[in-house]
Amino acid sequence: MSIIQSKKILQNSLGLFSDDSPLDFVYEKTSKEELSFIGEKLTRGRHKIHPYPAMLHPLLVDYLIKNYANKNDVIFDPFCGSGVTLLESSVNGYKSIGFDINPLALLIAKVKTENYKIEELKKEFLGLKASLLENFNTDIPMINNIEYWYKKEIVRDLGRIRFVLKNNSYKYKDFFLVIFAFICRNQSFTRNGEFKRYRVKEDKIDNFENKVFEKFFQHIENMIYIIKDSAVPKEKSYPMLANSEKNTPKINYDLVITSPPYGDSRTTVAYGEYSSFGSDWVDDLNCYGGNAYKVDKESMGKIGQIDENIRKHSILVNTIKRIENFDKKRAGEVFYFFNGYYNAIKNVVSKLNENGKVCFVVGNRTVKGQQIPMDQITASFLDSMGLKFENIFVRDILNKVMPSQNSPTNIIGEKSNTMSNEYIVVFNKN
Ligand SMILES: C[S@@+](CC[C@H](N)C(=O)[O-])C[C@H]1O[C@@H](n2cnc3c(N)ncnc32)[C@H](O)[C@@H]1O
Repeated sequence: MSIIQSKKILQNSLGLFSDDSPLDFVYEKTSKEELSFIGEKLTRGRHKIHPYPAMLHPLLVDYLIKNYANKNDVIFDPFCGSGVTLLESSVNGYKSIGFDINPLALLIAKVKTENYKIEELKKEFLGLKASLLENFNTDIPMINNIEYWYKKEIVRDLGRIRFVLKNNSYKYKDFFLVIFAFICRNQSFTRNGEFKRYRVKEDKIDNFENKVFEKFFQHIENMIYIIKDSAVPKEKSYPMLANSEKNTPKINYDLVITSPPYGDSRTTVAYGEYSSFGSDWVDDLNCYGGNAYKVDKESMGKIGQIDENIRKHSILVNTIKRIENFDKKRAGEVFYFFNGYYNAIKNVVSKLNENGKVCFVVGNRTVKGQQIPMDQITASFLDSMGLKFENIFVRDILNKVMPSQNSPTNIIGEKSNTMSNEYIVVFNKN
């Protein structure tokens, strides 16, 4: 038995399945304390320009690139979001490509990975500031329930910024637009720390201060300072509007570093809804187009044609059965999500160059009290597509101490709170 084969344990030997269950494996996991990056902030450097849900940790991506990328490799992220993989690739000297269905996320990724001439950027900022202080015209887009989400004076001041951005040409317009999008969210009545649209409590509304200009200027100044001092992107990045489940543009790559959604947008993160405060104001000015509300409908996990091959993955089938015992509808939603995920992985694998590697960073959430072993499901999918198992690293994401040995939790239905962990599933095409 080769080393790689020995890392897989035949599931049926654990007596977990009935005789007619398809056979499958569990894949061994390795705890890696140094990947927990205790005390190291997630949002750092250029990534501070605009927050985004479920961002990859930049230091993790940097580690994976340093360990797995070879000279002249192209790095790909099929769910690039705000572009952590893209920026870390380009500062490490690798060309990178990212797909996402969220236009605002792509704009953030584009702006993060651009090269800036600082003096020109500063000059444009001064010009923009002057135009804003002397111009009182407003351009307010049609936004449903705008008065429910914003104070009147805030709408006016956001409208003034939008007017100036729309009616002037700036070399670094996208940079200002992304910061404007952030301020539109920050100055709305949405609750901090929520991904969905929840309004702050009534008592906070009266005291809500209009800080549109102050925050807009301050954030631009901070970002100019950060860009001046941070590593310069050395290679180009290509964020692209594309759905990874579908037939995607013709590209090839050598290394995949990605963090897919962990479930459908209704019950996990609604990326579109999160982005809607910014995109309501910048959609028509965004070079990737608009309509954040469509993003959640397009997100992975839509009801569609089932690829029968996914029924061969007992780890998935048995997970669905466990959820079905509690809630058939939810079980169906999870099944459709993994059907979409399977299609996306099939697309990713088909364009991976020989000797390439993939790193999928996933979490094992629970549905109806049942844990979904997304790390094992991902490994099972990749294995069935001919890739070879290399490792599943476990990292702590709540800064808890990790066991230093191989994790003993290769057991389906493990009870620990694994959302405090992230799993990095690594396979190769050797
Ligand atoms: C976990 S987030 C990625 C975050 C990203 N790693 C970052 O650092 O910002 C998952 C992303 O997948 C995107 N997404 C969901 N379904 C998709 C699909 N079918 N094709 C491409 N992207 C999709 C979402 O819009 C979201 O931006």
